[in-house]
Amino acid sequence: MLEISNLNVYYGQSRILQDVSLSVPDGKVACLLGRNGVGKTTLLKAVMGVLKTRSGSLTYAGENITGWLPYKRARAGIGYVPQGRGIFPYLSVAENLVLGLEATKEGRSDALDEMYQQFPILSTFAKRMAGTLSGGQQQQLALARALISKPKLLVLDEPTEGIQPSIVLEIEELLISLKKKSNLTTLLVEQYLDFALAVADYCYIMEHGAIVLQGEPEMMTQDQTREYITV
Ligand SMILES: Nc1ncnc2c1ncn2[C@@H]1O[C@H](COP(=O)(O)OP(=O)(O)OP(=O)(O)O)[C@@H](O)[C@H]1O
Ligand SMILES: [Mg+2]
Repeated sequence: MLEISNLNVYYGQSRILQDVSLSVPDGKVACLLGRNGVGKTTLLKAVMGVLKTRSGSLTYAGENITGWLPYKRARAGIGYVPQGRGIFPYLSVAENLVLGLEATKEGRSDALDEMYQQFPILSTFAKRMAGTLSGGQQQQLALARALISKPKLLVLDEPTEGIQPSIVLEIEELLISLKKKSNLTTLLVEQYLDFALAVADYCYIMEHGAIVLQGEPEMMTQDQTREYITV
């Protein structure tokens, strides 16, 4: 579904991503782990087209999307939950969700209700300004806004950041059920190891902008893994 090959990304003169190759097969969850500042968000921004790549290629659903603008990637079915949520604080919860639908021009009338069922707290606060929700509620809103357009590939940047354990479990169950029911493919960036191992089919570990370790989640509990991700 997503194939990242030998990607190099720079900020000015500094090389942030170094020949990164990673693949997310159809209907699977791939997780990218690594310490602060290693380049995880940079990679997701490159996947979304928010950052330009210096060299390398991105293939999505069989198409070379390396030069595509972000909106075209969204329309093609790539949903994104950025780190820090990126919701619109001065719009209501409902308006934020409707904007998620705009990304694909799907316009299904039952889409909002579906999201309210999945995230009851958003239904309760539908008319409230999104900026007045708590951090964890905003995180759920960001996730719902990405899911409402029924993406084929979901790109998540630390969805558990600042979320209480019970909601983390709900998100875990949601991602697993979306994979089973809707064959959703997910590229997940995480620092919360237990959550990552519970949802991932395959894991990558990044250090200084390069993939240094990869494998099935079963092998990721080894000491070597912890060495790369614990601070
Ligand atoms: N706009 C920018 N200009 C210059 N350098 C940047 C910019 N954004 C990020 N960087 C640098 O690029 C490196 C990778 O940052 P990135 O945000 O990808 O890390 P990360 O792995 O997502 O970290 P975290 O776990 O803290 O979110 C860091 O050293 C960061 O300081
Ligand atoms: Mg980040």
